[in-house]
Amino acid sequence: MSDKPWDGRFAERTDTSVEAFTSSIQCDRRLYPYDIQGSVAHCRMLAKVGVITAEEAETLVEGLWRIKRELDQGNFEFDDSLEDIHMHIEARLLQEVGKVAQKLHTARSRNDQVALDIRMFLRDVTAQIIQGLKALRTILVGMAEQHVETVMPGYTHLQRAQPVLLGHHWMAYYEMFSRDAMRFADGLKRTNVMPLGAAALAGTTYPIDRSYTAELLGFPKVTANSMDSVADRDFILEFLSAAGICMVHLSRLSEELVLWSSSEFGFIELSDAFSTGSSIMPQKKNPDIPELIRGKTGRVVGSLMAELTLMKSLPLAYNRDMQEDKPPLFDAVDTLQSCLNITIKMLPTIQVKIDRMRQAASVGFLNATDMADYLVGRGVPFRKAHSIVGQAVAFALAQGKELDQLTLKELQGFSKEIEEDLFENLTLEHMIARRQSAGGTSGDNVRAAIATAHRELATDDPDQTAGGATA
Ligand code: ARG
Repeated sequence: MSDKPWDGRFAERTDTSVEAFTSSIQCDRRLYPYDIQGSVAHCRMLAKVGVITAEEAETLVEGLWRIKRELDQGNFEFDDSLEDIHMHIEARLLQEVGKVAQKLHTARSRNDQVALDIRMFLRDVTAQIIQGLKALRTILVGMAEQHVETVMPGYTHLQRAQPVLLGHHWMAYYEMFSRDAMRFADGLKRTNVMPLGAAALAGTTYPIDRSYTAELLGFPKVTANSMDSVADRDFILEFLSAAGICMVHLSRLSEELVLWSSSEFGFIELSDAFSTGSSIMPQKKNPDIPELIRGKTGRVVGSLMAELTLMKSLPLAYNRDMQEDKPPLFDAVDTLQSCLNITIKMLPTIQVKIDRMRQAASVGFLNATDMADYLVGRGVPFRKAHSIVGQAVAFALAQGKELDQLTLKELQGFSKEIEEDLFENLTLEHMIARRQSAGGTSGDNVRAAIATAHRELATDDPDQTAGGATA
């Protein structure tokens, strides 16, 4: 058992059950690269303002880099009695460079140290996720390009509603994931603020230069209030909100893949490489990947709830409760990243059954609205037209026919305004092409949306992705 950096005022040793209970090392060890970078910057800053000598700083920095190598190579021993990654590195530094290591923690506390580490971690993770989203958005645009002529039924209430282009459907997901990227990028502005120098909660008596530390670590700003610096976890909450929403989007896409690959829909087939079988039913090919993405969404949303509940009612400033911020955060990060990665790999392998989609769009009165619109074009008020077509639908249903399978004579029985040209208005191509209102499913609109998406993807700034269509 090691001596603890804080045990000066203690007469008794910590009970081993307490060490096991309070330790977070199994979880927070993954913060080590950030902890070391933060300590290196802190040393350099202390030397710059004359709190330690340049030579001392050099010894400390070299020792810290050696420890980083040990950690990188997995040659580092962890021990619950040293609680967390911060104390492990400091204790190892003492062995490595001797007494000068005792100066490292001058003008610093683990409270501002851990806040720094998480911000640095999340800054990297957020950038990776934005890149992952970009890859996903690029794939969706490619899929939309392949299907600017593929007609499918659009649904409301999961009932066939009106025909749409599959390209339009894929571009709907492009919009969702573009908003996700913007949300992550926006949260990053508040994550990317440097808290070190708040010390325990009140700031410090040393003449530290926080802006210099920030500059060394690539932060554009320092936090404004020392108490808030160590108590704030809003940036985690914002990240998890964005992550939860993004997972909800992935789960909606997944749900459609599950539905569409069922025999009942039969719109797509997942590739063998991205499906699994049943241990009992030889015929089965199951969509386990999208199912698992749906399932894992609960974990990420749960992490957001855990974190909100953790922070609720905590008095200022730091409280040990906050050590519990890391397990849900890390789990959400890992879950979201793995779901994004597998979606990016799976989507291009999907085989679309174009004929089956078209067939599904051809039955079920998806042209009823267009028949009403036709009547409106002939001066019938919309509500009246709606009712006329409703009666025609009821009649056709009773005959086991579609609207366009009724004879002109039968149709004219519902309205004298109907003429032969109604039939061309009821074709899939016509219905799609006429939906030219901004953001509608016409081929021209979808091609324009794809062109806009290419422009958005060409910039690396998610904020340039304004979303929306040109009206
Ligand atoms: N392991 C702690 C955490 O993650 C670090 C800060 C501990 N500070 C303290 N005064 N006990 O929150």
